[in-house]
Amino acid sequence: GGVITLDPGYKNTGSCESAITFLDGEKGILRYRGYSIEELAEKADFLEVAYLLIFGELPNQEQLDKFHADIKAKSLVDDDIKKILDAFPKSAHPMGVLSSLTSALTAFYPSPVDVSSEEAMYNSIVRILGKFPILVAWSMRKKHGLPLEYGDDKLGYVENILKMMFKNPNSEYEQNPILVDALDKLLILHADHEQNCSTSTVRITGSSHAGLFVSLASGISALWGPLHGGANQAVLEMLEAIKEDGGDTKKYMAKAKDKNDPFRLMGFGHRVYKNFDPRARIIKKAADEVLGDLGVEDPILDIAKGLEQEALKDPYFVERKLYPNVDFYSGIIYRAMGIPVEMFTVMFALGRLPGWIAQWREMRLNKEPIGRPRQLYTGATYREFKSIDKR
Ligand code: CMC
Repeated sequence: GGVITLDPGYKNTGSCESAITFLDGEKGILRYRGYSIEELAEKADFLEVAYLLIFGELPNQEQLDKFHADIKAKSLVDDDIKKILDAFPKSAHPMGVLSSLTSALTAFYPSPVDVSSEEAMYNSIVRILGKFPILVAWSMRKKHGLPLEYGDDKLGYVENILKMMFKNPNSEYEQNPILVDALDKLLILHADHEQNCSTSTVRITGSSHAGLFVSLASGISALWGPLHGGANQAVLEMLEAIKEDGGDTKKYMAKAKDKNDPFRLMGFGHRVYKNFDPRARIIKKAADEVLGDLGVEDPILDIAKGLEQEALKDPYFVERKLYPNVDFYSGIIYRAMGIPVEMFTVMFALGRLPGWIAQWREMRLNKEPIGRPRQLYTGATYREFKSIDKR
């Protein structure tokens, strides 16, 4: 073999060419298919952004209507999936449930996606976009002992998600436009982020020509960890702990800087951004607006702002260019919306779904080879086998 370059964590290794998301971590720029994240969050809705990411262009009204109709037409989930859900204990984390149920869908659509036909690929894509919100809602309702709901055809994609999550059997469900707008924005901000850990996982799983649904299931598992999507849950738990501990942010700043303490300031730092995460800027502003609109006062928002202020002027964070990332303020909005903390990373998965799909599709259309990194072997050289009585 040739010379192997070692790059643990792939800090400097490009794995593919991609035309989906542009990111400049030094300048803090993020664009989907050339459109700035700020403008998309302000002016587009989540389904338009999903279409843009997957197919490369913003849809016109007719294309968007057809896309939505096709998604709705494929949104039923087989009743046997409910039996699988039933088998989970209530204590199960919804991320584990979501990944398992996404995998379980392959039982009902066993043939791998035929990528030689755009139509077959399209059908799988609208199918998962239709079914995923149901699995998300079920993973929450199961935990809270609520009866499982199917979608409402008359509603928008994001409206429907909220209804499926929150509809209570004992009361009339009323749509709250503030929540719809907030969720729409959050999902757009999470929709893609080029070759992050979960997306690389989806691409590498799919590179063996495993199907779309299992590739997504492996992405969900990768997203779960606290260094990645799991950070949004970890941030809120950290802010709660600081509040319980009397709100002493300085103490936690010291812990985060102490190299003998495993504690990290969750929601801070990023592999690629060495400047403000542009998504964090938008989310911080949205947190203020949503809490204001809903009339919610949350002391945790003040703790978060205090931590941010301290970190931005602390030499440890300044030298290492550690800024708040997308996960720092998102949980505060989710919480104000009434979404339970163990669902935060599930909401991230819901937002990231179009990005994973777009990246998987691009990888297949580009006919990328199987992902197969190399290594530098550091183990023993040849050793003679010893029978068990001689060891
Ligand atoms: N708190 C304290 N120190 C930190 C933090 C933090 N949150 N993040 C990085 N550092 C320090 C780290 O100890 C290292 O210091 P030194 O050079 O003295 O050894 C230096 O900064 C560089 O960090 P790194 O771990 O080498 O950087 P990385 O690119 O491997 O890791 C990261 C990036 C996001 C995993 C890391 O910053 C982190 O663990 N942050 C907290 C978890 C988090 O918020 N994750 C969400 C990421 S954003 C969206 C997403 O993926 O979900």
